[in-house]
Amino acid sequence: MNEASNLAHGVDHAFYFIIGIDLFFLIGLTTAMLFFVFKYRRKKHPKPTQIKENMWLEFTWTVIPLIIVIAMFFVGYNEYTPLRTVPKGAIKITAIGEMWKWTFVYPNGKESNKLYVPYNKSVLINLESKDVIHSMSIPAFRIKEDMVPGKHNFLWFIPTIKDTFDIYCSEYCGVRHSYMLSQVIVLDEDKYMDWVSKVEKKAPVADLPGLKVLQNNACLGCHSLDGSTLVGPSFKGLFGSKRSVITNGAERSITVDEEYIKNSVLDPGKDVAKGFTNGIMQSYKTVLKDQDIKDIVEYFKANAKN
Ligand code: CUA
Repeated sequence: MNEASNLAHGVDHAFYFIIGIDLFFLIGLTTAMLFFVFKYRRKKHPKPTQIKENMWLEFTWTVIPLIIVIAMFFVGYNEYTPLRTVPKGAIKITAIGEMWKWTFVYPNGKESNKLYVPYNKSVLINLESKDVIHSMSIPAFRIKEDMVPGKHNFLWFIPTIKDTFDIYCSEYCGVRHSYMLSQVIVLDEDKYMDWVSKVEKKAPVADLPGLKVLQNNACLGCHSLDGSTLVGPSFKGLFGSKRSVITNGAERSITVDEEYIKNSVLDPGKDVAKGFTNGIMQSYKTVLKDQDIKDIVEYFKANAKN
């Protein structure tokens, strides 16, 4: 795999050093074992012999492994130190992890869901979590650090290849953990400056209060916005679409309108979307106010056009 950051070579070096020692012992011990099994088999040696202590043998097999593990420690320590030593003047970007997406905040306040960085420059990423423990991992850069709510953590790197690389969440953080993906895009410095200086306005849909209602009541834990199927049907393109529902055990076709959305929130078991299980969603009668439901409907209407 590409070594796409300044830190990658050191991490690989420590990794190959340790895996090399492991392989040596795996092969060595297996060979010795097979050899002894053959050489001291019962047929040739029907009477076992008790071998008493041998000082030199015991001394050797204690001291040699001791030297090996100390060597592993020093190689590991040597290659670990650069990972935690950030050069002065690094560009500071904040990475925010939440269930289940990434947000990157640049020094001028610009936000993005993919990480843009300049080629051959030091980049310091401050790690934050909004909810549970996530972990930011960029395999091509050989870096991975946990994002723990309430605790400050960071990682840094200098990208050494101009390309796009995958970002993974490598700490199990809930049902959509495996979908918590992003990318890091390495650009020439002038292209990066160009990109970062253009602060786009946020899409107006994101500002509608209905989205807050959905977020605050954990609706999105079961209903995705991006079309993927979770516990319940996705909200993507919901308003105005034709759906099959089961009403009193019979299938029928409906068009999603204000009435249907309101009914689904207040009495989820009445018209159950086909292919989903009745009874998982409880009524939100006592949770949501009339205005909340109106806000949700407005949000769906605005989103249907996108
Ligand atoms: Cu976030 Cu796994």
